[in-house]
Parts: sequence; C-alpha cells; structure tokens
Amino acid sequence: MLRLGDIAPNFTAQTSEGELDFYEYLGNSWGVLFSHPADYTPVCTTELGRTASLKSEFKKRNVKVMALSVDTLESHQGWIKDINETQGVEVNFPIIADKDKTISEAYGMMHPNASATLTVRSLFVIAPDKTVKLMITYPASTGRNFTEILRVIDSLQLTANYSVATPADWKDGEDCVVVPAIKTEDIPAKFPKGFTEIKPYLRMTPQPNK
Ligand code: BEZ
Repeated sequence: MLRLGDIAPNFTAQTSEGELDFYEYLGNSWGVLFSHPADYTPVCTTELGRTASLKSEFKKRNVKVMALSVDTLESHQGWIKDINETQGVEVNFPIIADKDKTISEAYGMMHPNASATLTVRSLFVIAPDKTVKLMITYPASTGRNFTEILRVIDSLQLTANYSVATPADWKDGEDCVVVPAIKTEDIPAKFPKGFTEIKPYLRMTPQPNK
C-alpha cells in the first residue's frame, strides 16, 4: 500500500494524449494524479471540467495533472467531447485508460468493498522528487473540492520552500506556523517579516511569499 513519503510508482500509460511515461510527463514539476470511477457519469464530468477550468491555477503552481479511469481510450475520447460541451472547457490534461487496472492497483485506487470493478476517487499530490505528499480518497458519490486541493498544494509548497506549516483552516495570505525543527533563536534570520511566540512550540509568522 502506498503511503505518504513513498516514491510514487512510475508507469507507462495509454492516455487521451498518447502513450506517456509518468515521470517524463512530470519532469521537475509537481504532479496531481487522480482517479474517477467511470466515464459518462455525472459527478466525474463535473470534476474533470473543474480540473480543466483550473489550468492556469495548476500552471501557476508548476503542477501537471493526469486523470485515470479503467475505461477505454475510445470511451475517454467520446466523453471528453461531452465534458467540453457541458462544462464549457477544453480538457487540457491526459486521461489514462487503465483497462487492465495495473496503475490503479499500484496506487491503491481499487477499494473492492466499495466497488469490485471501478476505481474510487483517489488523488495523489507528488513532489518534484517523486515522493507522495498528499493522498485523499473520496467515494463515488462525492465530487472532490478542487479549491481545497489547490490550498493543500500551496501549503506543501510553502513547507518545501520556506520551512513553514499551515494551521487549521489556513487560507492563502494568512499567518503560518514556523516548523518545530527551527529553533526560536534562529527565526529572526530566517523570517525577516517577524514572528510571534504564543508558546515555545507555537510560533507564528506572516506568510513568507506574500
Ligand atoms: C458519478 O460520477 O456521478 C458517479 C460515478 C459512479 C457512481 C456514482 C456516481
């Protein structure tokens, strides 16, 4: 079973944009790999439409997106037309046709007690070093919150770049938490915007990249 911190398995996949090697596709970018239960289903149609509409938000964060279901390429091609038509977008990311479920199994996207044949709504955020940074799993009946996914990516990138964590319900622009690994005496040099020590273990600082 894949866990946070593990290396995301590489694969070669048949996708709506041709055969792709996952690592080559990602290059040095961050990645989002997500599964949906089936083509031509209502919730999935809205999720893929929403993902397409967020192209500039993913690009701004240097994130490449890839979707997956166990349907065929032919099915994907037909369904993409419906997504474009009904959601007012151009699907602008590859959708994997994982007919033999190799990739779904490698990423734990099959949950047999939820569905014997279809993937659940799994989503992985993968860092440029290919480690898994976020795993979420939603049931078929609940579409994911893509604003939350962007929020987590922002948090992960702040941690990677500035040694801060983000508190409960944090939103872009709000104060961040200095990670425990940094000693209080080292904070001034590292965080020129200042900090507030609420407790020795709870040190807040303005968001470093704002
Ligand atoms: C949907 O995408 O709408 C969906 C897919 C599978 C089961 C239930 C809903």
